[in-house]
Amino acid sequence: MKIDGSVAIITGGASGMGKALAEKLVSQGGKVLIADRDTTKGPAVADDLNERFGAGKAIFHETDLTKWKTLEAAFEKTKTEFGKINIVVNNAGIVETSSWINDNDPREDMCDYLVLNVDLTAVAKGSRLAIQYFANNRDVGEGVVISTSSLYGLFNSGIVPLYAAAKAGVVSLVKSHAMQKEFTNTRHVAICPWFVDTPLLEEHFRGALAYNKVELIQPERVVEAFVMAIENDDLNGAILKVFPDQTSVQEEVLSTEDLTLAKHVRVMEQFILKRQDEARLNETKP
Ligand SMILES: NC(=O)c1ccc[n+]([C@@H]2O[C@H](COP(=O)([O-])OP(=O)(O)OC[C@H]3O[C@@H](n4cnc5c(N)ncnc54)[C@H](O)[C@@H]3O)[C@@H](O)[C@H]2O)c1
Repeated sequence: MKIDGSVAIITGGASGMGKALAEKLVSQGGKVLIADRDTTKGPAVADDLNERFGAGKAIFHETDLTKWKTLEAAFEKTKTEFGKINIVVNNAGIVETSSWINDNDPREDMCDYLVLNVDLTAVAKGSRLAIQYFANNRDVGEGVVISTSSLYGLFNSGIVPLYAAAKAGVVSLVKSHAMQKEFTNTRHVAICPWFVDTPLLEEHFRGALAYNKVELIQPERVVEAFVMAIENDDLNGAILKVFPDQTSVQEEVLSTEDLTLAKHVRVMEQFILKRQDEARLNETKP
C-alpha cells in the first residue's frame, strides 16, 4: 500500500512512537486521525502537523480505549472527515498498573486489569472495527491493521507479567486474524519493539536499563517497521522484531512435529471460515 493518499487511524498518536508515525505518514502525503486520551498533547500534535504540512492533514479525536464508544466514534469521524480508512494502527499502551504484591488495580471494581484492557482488549476491539470496515468497503482496497506488541510479546516477564500476557495476546490476535484475510480483505502485522526511548519508560526503569547496559532504540527505528508493514503487501501475520542490532521478520514459533498438526487444524478452520462466509453472503442477499 502506498502512504501517499492513504488515511490512517493511530491510537496513542499523541506521544512516543504513535506521534512519530503520524508525522511520518503526513510528511509522505497521508492523512491521520490521532485517537488518544491526552487532550493536551493530542490536539497539539494535530495542530503542529497541519501547520507544517498543510491544513486538513491531521485530526485529533478524544478517545479512551476503555470506553469503546469513543473508539467507534473515532472510526466514524475518520470516515466523515477523510472519506475512507486504509490503515488502522492499534498502538496505544500503558505499563503494568498493579502487581501481585499490590493487587489494587484501577479497574478493580470492573473485575478487570487496566493494562489488559488497554493493551489487549482495546487492540481486539480496534481490529474488529477495522475488519468490519475493510470487509464491507472493498472499493477502498485492501486494509492493513498494525498492532504494537513488544519484546515482551515474545519474551516472558517476571516484572510485568500482565503486560507480557497482553503483548503475547496481541501477537496471537494478529496471527489469528491474518488467517481470515481471504474473507476480511485485511492484512495484520504485529510490531515487537525493543525498549524504546519514549515517555512510557519511567525514570527508575531507565535507571535499571542503564545500570545493566541494556540499550534503548529510538522511535524512528520503529517508524521504519510501521512503514514496512504498510508498504509491503506481502506481510500478513508477520511479526516485525525491532531489536537493537536489526529489524527482522520473526518466523512462526512452532516445533517441527507440531507443524503437521497445526496445518491440519488450519485446513479445518479454513473450511469453517468458508462456510461462515457463505452464510454471511446468503444473509445479505436481497
Ligand atoms: N517504549 C517502549 O520501551 C516500548 C517497547 C515495546 C513496546 N511498546 C509499546 O509501544 C506502544 C506505544 O508506546 P510509547 O512507548 O510510544 O508510549 P507513550 O506513553 O509515549 O505513548 C502512549 C500513548 O497511548 C495513549 N494512551 C494510553 N492509554 C490510553 C487510553 N486508555 N486511551 C487512549 N489512549 C491511551 C497515551 O495518552 C499516549 O499518548 C505501546 O503499546 C507500548 O506498550 C513500548
